This record gives sequence, structure tokens and C-alpha cells, in this order.
Amino acid sequence: MSIKEITLEKFNVTDFIEEKAKEIAALVGDGVAINALSGGVDSSAVTMLGHKALGERLKTYFIDNGIMREGEPQRIAALFKSLGVQIEIIDAQDEFFNALKGVIDPEEKREAITQAFYKDVFGKLVKESGAKHLLQGTILTDVDETVAGIKRQHNVFEQLGIDPQKAFGYKIIEPLIQLRKDGVRKLAASLGLPESAYNRMPFPGPALAARVIGEVTKKKVSIVRKATVVVEEELASTGAFQYMAILHQDRVTGMRDGKRDFGLQIELRCWDSIDARKATPTELPYDVLYKLADRIVDEVPGVVSVTYNITKKPPSTIEAI
Ligand code: XMP
Repeated sequence: MSIKEITLEKFNVTDFIEEKAKEIAALVGDGVAINALSGGVDSSAVTMLGHKALGERLKTYFIDNGIMREGEPQRIAALFKSLGVQIEIIDAQDEFFNALKGVIDPEEKREAITQAFYKDVFGKLVKESGAKHLLQGTILTDVDETVAGIKRQHNVFEQLGIDPQKAFGYKIIEPLIQLRKDGVRKLAASLGLPESAYNRMPFPGPALAARVIGEVTKKKVSIVRKATVVVEEELASTGAFQYMAILHQDRVTGMRDGKRDFGLQIELRCWDSIDARKATPTELPYDVLYKLADRIVDEVPGVVSVTYNITKKPPSTIEAI
């Protein structure tokens, strides 16, 4: 089944909200539905849309998988509370780190996260809540890349011939599937989300695990999380589409306090893009790059090398995994 794209030029956001709210209400009937909020623009928009359609009958969870950015669960729960939407934070760190143990291959990592999320964590929540439907913010770009075999996006099933009802025991509703990122931002703004949410840069479903090359461990995630804080602080004013830090697996020889230090490498990426299908590295000034490198080697333990990626997408992709 091919999905009919709604381009930004043809997007009537008011009609879309009315139509999708009706569709969701009709599908869920008098039952309950659940959704997971990650704090990204897609899941934030779906949360607002779902609450418009179902009110209290939509139960929203924030799954703390241990691979999110610094302070994220609390920040997102507070934002939604201020918008009148209650979020329950679920501590699922052990499930995710256990699933990622010993996994090195990028696609296997994505699959491990998908299974931990949809089967272990959500399977349990669905059973407890009695929900028959899961609402999620899959967008057209997620489907395109998964179907093309470039990356298994964590949230794509039916287009891969996977029936979520059979695989996980619940149905998935995807109201944003015809949109791309630019359309979702417009929708999120119309649904009353603040600019900090609707203009927030994209963040991948596999979270910081998409930014650790090799096995994902708590220690490595804590390193890449610290580097991410620096990158997000230093590059916020660039207005770039997306920026990130990646922790490499290989070590390189550096020196610290006059002694050899066989240390860690962080790669930085900063992208200009409209909808993530193509992207160009932002031409960052050298003083910005130097400041990033200085702060990262000072603030992130063990790092002796910081590089900046200058490859376009394609052939690069935005995330490293
Ligand atoms: P790539 O790395 O494929 O990323 O060039 C394109 C855009 O998608 C985001 N991304 C994901 N988003 N689930 C998502 O919801 C995923 O599994 C996923 N992987 C990548 C990425 O951050 C970029 O904005």
C-alpha cells in the first residue's frame, strides 16, 4: 500500500486536525489507547492530537530507556504537565541495556531496541492498561528509509509486512504517516505546543544508542550524553537542522599532562536540511569548532580527539548508526 504524501504547500492543518481526531476516536471506540512520548516533535504532536481525540482515555508514557539526553524525562513531563497532559515516566533502563548487551551490528542494535520497546516494555503496559491501540508518530521519511533498506527505523512495521497485532498483541494508529518533518512542525504549533517543542531538532528513536559505535553500555552512553550537552549548548544558535556527538569505538593516541593517553574519539555532525532526506554539513566557523573541541576534551572524561564530519547525505546518513 503506497502512502499519499501531504506536502507542506498542500497541508491544511485545521482540516487535518479535525479529520485525524475523528479518525482516532472512531478507531479506538469506547476503549483506551496508549502512546509513548519521547519529547521529539513527532511524538509530542501525536500526544496532543491523541488527547484532543480521546481526552483521558489516552494514557501517555515516557519510557526512560536510559539512552535519552540529560534531564530529558523530567523536562518533558514538566512541559506536558504545563499543557494539561499527565505523563507517567516508566523506568525501563535495565530492559534496554540488557537487550543491547553484546550487540555490535547497527541494524541488530536497532532491532534490539525495537523489540525491547514494543514487546517487553509496551507489551506489559498494554496488558496492564487494557489498551488495544497504540498511537505513534511515524512519519513518511521513517517509512521511506526503512523500506529502502537504509535503516530500520524503530517504529515501522506494516510496510515491512509485520502485523503489530500478531507480533505484539495490539494495533498501531499512525496519524502522521503522510507528513514529513516540516508538516509535523506546523501541526505541532497548531496543536498548542511551544516553539521549544515544535521547532525542536529531530532526535532518533534509538536515542543516544544511534550515536555509540560498537556495543552500547551505560558508560559509553554517559560519555556521549556529556558530549551532547556541550554540542547542544554551543550549536543552539546556529539554527541548523540537527547536530550531534558520536562516540567512536577505536581509540587514538593523544597526550595529557605530558603523558601518552590512548583515548576516545568524538565525531561531531551538524546538518543543514529541510526534511532529512538530503543534508549538507553546516559551514561552522573555526572558532566555534575550536570551542567545541576544547570544551569536549575538558568536560568529557577520556576524550583526546574531536573531529567534524564534512560528508553530505547521501552517501552519509544523518545519524551514525
Ligand atoms: P538518517 O540517519 O537516516 O536520519 O539520515 C534521518 C532522520 O531520522 C532520524 N532518525 C530516526 N527517527 N526513528 C526515528 O524516529 C529512528 O529509528 C531514526 N533513525 C534516524 C534522524 O535523527 C534524522 O533526523
